[in-house]
Amino acid sequence: SQSLPYAPVPNQRRHAYRHRLFVNELSQALFEFVGQLLPTAQELVVKEDVRKLLERLIRTIEPESRLLSFGSTANGFNLRNSDMDLCCLIDSDERLSASDLVVMLGDLLERETKFRVKPLPHARIPIVKLSLDPSPGFPSGIACDIGFENRLALENTRLLMCYAMIDPPRVRTFVLFLKVWSKRRKINSPYQGTLSSYGYVLLVIYFLVHVKNPPVLPNLQQIPPLRPVSKEDTHINGYNTWFFDDIELLCQSWRSSNTETVAELLIDFFRYYSRDFAYSTGVASIRAGLLKKESKGWQNDLSSSKFNDSRERNRFCIEDPFETDFNVARCVTREGLYQIRGEFMRASRILAMRPRALVALSQLCEE
Ligand code: CTP
Ligand code: MG
Repeated sequence: SQSLPYAPVPNQRRHAYRHRLFVNELSQALFEFVGQLLPTAQELVVKEDVRKLLERLIRTIEPESRLLSFGSTANGFNLRNSDMDLCCLIDSDERLSASDLVVMLGDLLERETKFRVKPLPHARIPIVKLSLDPSPGFPSGIACDIGFENRLALENTRLLMCYAMIDPPRVRTFVLFLKVWSKRRKINSPYQGTLSSYGYVLLVIYFLVHVKNPPVLPNLQQIPPLRPVSKEDTHINGYNTWFFDDIELLCQSWRSSNTETVAELLIDFFRYYSRDFAYSTGVASIRAGLLKKESKGWQNDLSSSKFNDSRERNRFCIEDPFETDFNVARCVTREGLYQIRGEFMRASRILAMRPRALVALSQLCEE
């Protein structure tokens, strides 16, 4: 028989080569895709102007107050036209209660601004909701929540920002894509039984710190401090909020030995949350790794009706990094979890077919 003029490529190597082409192309496409969805410089300026304006107004009620950004506007995970999360801190001992402030601020903003104003003084965390309809100046309008004294949220925002800064190309791209995907697939709404953006970000960080081996990110809450820290400096409302935040120093001494591309990480993420994560018994904790629901008293005991309520609240468990008795996924219902897991599976299926990158992205994010 005639011999081939070249050595045949073994099947396995051809497979590996095709896979490499696919993930490289997909990674590039992911960078470009999220790049187009970042806020414009003008949007950031407008939002900062709005923050300053609101701060000036609030100071007419509480002169010692500061209005700070948290959430996506402050943690590096903001998409175009995302809403603004603002927190009012009052540096004085005799201040009004949060619900009184919400009522007063609501009245003031109604009088002095063009925002549509909705004060929610009796919410678990009292807030004032503001919105502005789309106009030529703000084509997609503005939505903004103002809360009071939510220092834990300011700290968890800083923690997420530090994680984003350690490896921006992979971590930011990953998180931003997941946020777009979860919004377009309609599984990003805690009021309808699915998960908040904050919950999805924690799932990504949990995966990069505790599931990937070698890890893509270190555990910032477990790196020992360089000098002794006192309890007063690190605790807020009784919760330990310490974490290693000297990212410049960290980047000099720590580098992940995980070299996977963002596409490989994403494929693995969807696989992990489709079939490997222990939804019925496990708690995802970025602070401590995989925990057991029982160890936190978050079990969903089906045999007892007295746990009815806790069962509904603990279908899916994600521990808040600081407020460790708070389940960030408590709003996720049975149907919501079914939907979320269905979407993880759907994404896995699409990616397993290895379509061209642009096709993959448009299928993944199909509305
Ligand atoms: N937050 C919290 N506990 C929750 C939900 C939210 O402490 N259960 C705080 C976090 O500080 C979070 C911020 O509220 O960063 C905003 O949450 P969310 O709107 O879910 O996340 P964003 O990153 O702002 O996402 P989006 O751009 O979709 O608004
Ligand atoms: Mg937000």
